[in-house]
Amino acid sequence: MLINNWYVAATEDDVKVGQPCRVKMLGLWFALFRNKANEVICVNDTCSHRGGSLGLGKVNDGRIACSYHGWEYNSRGRCTRIPALGDEVKIPKRARVDCYPVEIRYGWIWVFLGDLPEDERPPIPDNYPYYDEAMKSREKWGIVHLNYEVQCNWARSEENSIDGSHPSFVHASFGSKRDPKLMLVEPVAHEWGSSTYRERPPAEYRNLSEMTKSVIDEKRGNNKAYTWFSIVGISHLIDIKRSNGVRHITFAARTPIDQDNTRIFSHQVRNFLTGPEHDEERLQGRMKAAAEDTVVSQNVNPRYLPRTMSGELLVASDQNEAPFRQLIYKLARRGWEIDIDEAARQGRYNALAIPCPLRRENPKNWIAKPIPTTNPRRDE
Ligand code: FES
Ligand SMILES: [Fe+2]
Repeated sequence: MLINNWYVAATEDDVKVGQPCRVKMLGLWFALFRNKANEVICVNDTCSHRGGSLGLGKVNDGRIACSYHGWEYNSRGRCTRIPALGDEVKIPKRARVDCYPVEIRYGWIWVFLGDLPEDERPPIPDNYPYYDEAMKSREKWGIVHLNYEVQCNWARSEENSIDGSHPSFVHASFGSKRDPKLMLVEPVAHEWGSSTYRERPPAEYRNLSEMTKSVIDEKRGNNKAYTWFSIVGISHLIDIKRSNGVRHITFAARTPIDQDNTRIFSHQVRNFLTGPEHDEERLQGRMKAAAEDTVVSQNVNPRYLPRTMSGELLVASDQNEAPFRQLIYKLARRGWEIDIDEAARQGRYNALAIPCPLRRENPKNWIAKPIPTTNPRRDE
């Protein structure tokens, strides 16, 4: 699991005014809440007093109050009130928790789990304008949202989504068994991922959903598939153009809950049957595909990615998967990979935290220990 990355913590609707929301990411708990200006704030869930959960507490006047003894923390993670000591007392310096940058995009709350200054943070993908268009008007696009959890490692799960050769074997409704040979193209790299653009034969007509059959002719040409992934938010965009001008574009982000469980957030827009009365059928199709993917990806062995490229036999058809792994290994060498074994050991007696940008400004006076990583950090 990688630090110094943006992750989708929740949807905008999940964080209500006056109520904290507790979420687990990268094996640690976080608390989200809205301050008086209605901005979403994300802090480490572990109180600096005696480890109580902030996310299980309350929101008082835009500040989060711990569930145990009511210590209150502001929008920068600073404790501003210790009820048992009264209002006159000077608050100790170490009475604070890590506080993370937050951005809202595509109706989701993105949190930067790391300590990089703003100009060094990787960019949240901005190539899905369809979300705003579809939310404004149904004229051009229909849209469905699908958020769910899988008992599967985040990298195993994401690799499955960007894999162009599995649909022929896993998804009868959009993969062709007759012609599984993949068109090999040169992936196009970008700083945080890569993309492929290729044609692939359509699925057998009888396997298409009724909804798709109603807009697509039986005699038809290849589908055109553009697959783009970014390590930022463990996200991808898949744009499929079918015959008869039919097109749908999916954008998804994955958040590791821990090493064995993953939360998936996704939107899919379509340019056919755009009215909300068709959403349910489209959603059923998406849920069926997700269930098919979950079965294969949660049963691979080993459960996590091997530690090196040679640990499995990647071949020329693994066109997105190879750069995906290379990027993970590169960021691990940079010191951005959590050492899960060491974190489990240290975490028994210490509260651990992913260092937030405020720690760079002032590395002293924190209660939670920085989470161990597999390589020394770049700046040490
Ligand atoms: S543990 Fe949070 S106030 Fe005591
Ligand atoms: Fe799939």
